[in-house]
Parts: sequence; structure tokens; C-alpha cells
Amino acid sequence: MDLFDVYPLYDITPVKGEGNYVFEENGEKYLDLYGGHAVISIGHSHPEYVKALSEQVQKIGFYSNSVKNPLQVELAEKLEKISGVKDYNLFLCNSGAEANENALKVASFHTGKDRVIYFEKAFHGRTSGVVAVTDNPKIQSPFNSGHKATKLAFEDTESLENELKKGDVAAVIFEVIQGVGGLDEASTEFYQNITHLCEKYDALSIADEVQAGYGRTGEFFAFQKHNIRPDVISMAKGMGNGFPVGGILIDKKIEATIGMLGTTFGGNHLACAAGISVLEVIQDENLLKNASDLFEYVKEKADEIPQIKKVKGRGLMIGLEFDFEIAELRKNLLFEHHIFTGAAANKNLLRILPPLNIQKEHFDKLFEALKVALN
Ligand SMILES: Cc1ncc(COP(=O)(O)O)c(C=O)c1O
Repeated sequence: MDLFDVYPLYDITPVKGEGNYVFEENGEKYLDLYGGHAVISIGHSHPEYVKALSEQVQKIGFYSNSVKNPLQVELAEKLEKISGVKDYNLFLCNSGAEANENALKVASFHTGKDRVIYFEKAFHGRTSGVVAVTDNPKIQSPFNSGHKATKLAFEDTESLENELKKGDVAAVIFEVIQGVGGLDEASTEFYQNITHLCEKYDALSIADEVQAGYGRTGEFFAFQKHNIRPDVISMAKGMGNGFPVGGILIDKKIEATIGMLGTTFGGNHLACAAGISVLEVIQDENLLKNASDLFEYVKEKADEIPQIKKVKGRGLMIGLEFDFEIAELRKNLLFEHHIFTGAAANKNLLRILPPLNIQKEHFDKLFEALKVALN
């Protein structure tokens, strides 16, 4: 049987990961400045994480959501404590798309409405509802186009209010820093307008923190910089350090009813063990501070490279914007210098999404490689 051929693959086969590096069978070593697409938060095969998962699987790996699972409660309590986000309830699922899909569903159940507002360059996932609020027609099938979704521009408060006034909008969904779109971030005033207007017109604000959340920006959630309180917060990627874990935080004002949401695998014992371990390591190793400190370092190093026109993002969600398309440069970094980086919809932007325990020396390797590659 062949694999359904949907991914453009590099001819590289990592078989081992350690910290900020991955290795092929023959020992070839690669610096991972992409974190497997912002997923590796505490580093590959972190010893505490390996221990937590190994011990858990020896006890019990899975049982369904029809029985009590104290690990879910422990995860929720730790998350509240470490994120500083209070008075939300946690629903656990398995991926970013599923988190957003459930967020939209909660909004629609809660408001009784069916239209969703999203923003230009947004990426919220590939399943039916969330791909309809993703700004990329190429990944939308005719089936997905049945949803009621309206696209607006960041900073266009007037259009936002005009749409909300119509009375049929269940939710406004936004990434605080757009990942796939190219690291754009709107103003604090605009994010505050979103939450205020949602409240005024009885819609829910949904902050998609799937990529920017979990410490990546130096805040636990990227929205915290803007002093807003979204009604729903979606999470995934860094939450499990590679184990598929996603979830939504739902404001306590929104009532749950039995059967409203559900999933077979979401919140299973292994997923919770992974999630708890990630939170413990984030706290023990002070990884939020590391993320903010290193951003300053990256900005200084980027100043030494004239071809870099702008450093976008925050913390360890970084975009280096060049004055040319970076596809060839990215390949050069990978094949000549063994450094994984990412791309974005903005073709001039090199995306850097490393594990949150990365150190200055790893960035030094990147900037040395850039100097050689750009000469
Ligand atoms: C902001 C954002 N939301 C949602 C998703 C979808 O997550 P998943 O691929 O886990 O379904 C992504 C994935 O890149 C993302 O960056």
C-alpha cells in the first residue's frame, strides 16, 4: 500500500531527537529551529517528559471519557496556575483544528447563531468549519464552502461592528500573531475592540493560540500582552511536545450541557501525562523568560545581516523578513548547514519556531550559517 501523497517531503529521515537537535540513522545531526512546526516546546525527548510518559503507559495509557480521569483535573489546575488565566473551564481534544472546531461549535450553541467572522491571512486548520474560516481557497473543498463565514481585515473596526450589528454572528475568531499568514499582529486597540464588540452584540471572541500559545511568545498566551479576555481560547501544538493534545478554555459564563462536545481520544491518560509534564518543565526551566530574552538577542544578531529587513513576531515565534524570496535560502540552510527553519504565506519570511529551551549558541549557528549562505 502507498501513502496518500499530500506532503512535499525532504529527503531526510530523523530517527532520534534530543533537545534542539534531530538525528538521522547515520548520525547526521540537524539543528531544529522549526520545532516540527511549533510543536516541540520543551525540547525533543526531554528526560522528564520521557519519564512521565513511560511511567504513565506502564500504569494505563487510555480509557474513554465515560470514567473519571484525575489527570485531566491536574492538567486543568496546573494550566490555570501557570498561565495565570482564571475562571475558564477546560475541554480536551487532539489537535489544533479540532480545538477551533469545538470553539466555533460552543459559540454557535451558546449564541444560537451561525455566522463566523475571521481575518485576512488567517489559518485555523483544515477540518470542515475551521477551513471555512481560513484564508486559503486552495485547501477548501466545495463541501467546506457551505459554512457562513465572513472575512475582514485586521484594524477594520467599522466593518467588524457593521457585521456584528446584523445579529447573526456567533463568533469572531483570530490569531493574535498570525502563524502561517506571516507573523502579523494587530494593535492592542483592535483586539480590545474585538472583545468589546463581541460582548456588545452577543457573539463570542475566540483567540486561536494553537501556535502562539503555551509560552512561545514569552507570555503564556499571546493575547495577554493586549489585556483582553477572550471568551474561548484554543490551544494545541506546544501543549504535548509532540504528543497530540489540543484543548479549549471556555469562559465559565458559558454553560456546559452533557453531550454538547465529545471525543474518544481527547484528554486520555497519556495525553494528560504529556501535557502535565510540559507545564512542569515550562515552569521549572523558566521557559517564558527564555523566550522573551532570546528575542532581544535575535534582534541584535539580525542587525548584523543587511539582507534582513525586519524581525517580526515575539519571543520564539520569529519571522526574519528578507528583501527576496527565501525558498532557496531555506533549502541551503537545511542541506548545507543542517538547520531546519520554516516558511510562511509571505514568501520573503523565514519562520523560526524552535523549542523554548533553545540557547544563544543555537542562534549563533543560524546567523553564522546565514552569513555564509548570503555571501
Ligand atoms: C494558528 C493555528 N491554528 C490552527 C492550526 C491547526 O492545527 P492542527 O494542524 O493541529 O490541526 C494551526 C496549524 O498550523 C495553526 O497554526
